[in-house]
Amino acid sequence: MPIIAPSLLSANFLDLKTDCDMLNNSRADWFHLDVMDGRFVPNISFGPMIVEFFRKSTSKYCDVHLMIEEPEKFAEAFKKAGADNLTIHMEACRHLHRNIQQIKSLGMHVGVALNPHTPVDLLKDILQDIDLVCLMSVNPGFGGQSFIPHTIYKIKQLKEMINEQLLNVKIEIDGGVTLENAKSIMDAGADVLVAGNTVFKSADPVATIEALKNI
Ligand code: DX5
Ligand code: ZN
Repeated sequence: MPIIAPSLLSANFLDLKTDCDMLNNSRADWFHLDVMDGRFVPNISFGPMIVEFFRKSTSKYCDVHLMIEEPEKFAEAFKKAGADNLTIHMEACRHLHRNIQQIKSLGMHVGVALNPHTPVDLLKDILQDIDLVCLMSVNPGFGGQSFIPHTIYKIKQLKEMINEQLLNVKIEIDGGVTLENAKSIMDAGADVLVAGNTVFKSADPVATIEALKNI
């Protein structure tokens, strides 16, 4: 059964409480919180202060996706804000191993995200140190984009690498997940489905989450 992680980027920021309550009363497993700095990605979203509000609104796992440069400057602030996990981008980290160790030492789970162009092979010598790989299935920065089909091939490759090394690393797919493509994503070997628009723009978000959960 997939872990469902709705992306709050697509929520209604004028009425976040309603959306948080909706998720709390649904079968959503995680809150996926997208942090953007306007440098690593061409958009700005929110930082630790808002993550802290989300933290207070739920007992669900807060999965924080950092689309920022120099994540080492903010890891502690996100820990204080209540993040359960920090996912950092390989493309944004010159010293990825050091960044991973920092996040772990702060007592959080750690994920590494790859942009669509980054080969999964590059994870070979770091896979044993992390809890999750986030494969971007769109170019990061915005919700509501279309799923890049080549991601399916990357999921299969990564799943093989994880199995070969007998590791317990989750594969999260982020971007363009829909009720139509979710099954092929799960069949390829994914564990976590992020869904922004598919959940929040649907007529009945709770039912959509339920449908994703039952894929
Ligand atoms: C994109 C973000 C995603 C995004 C997903 O940069 O990392 O989490 O909100 O939104 P959808 O599901 O609408 O593609
Ligand atoms: Zn994300």
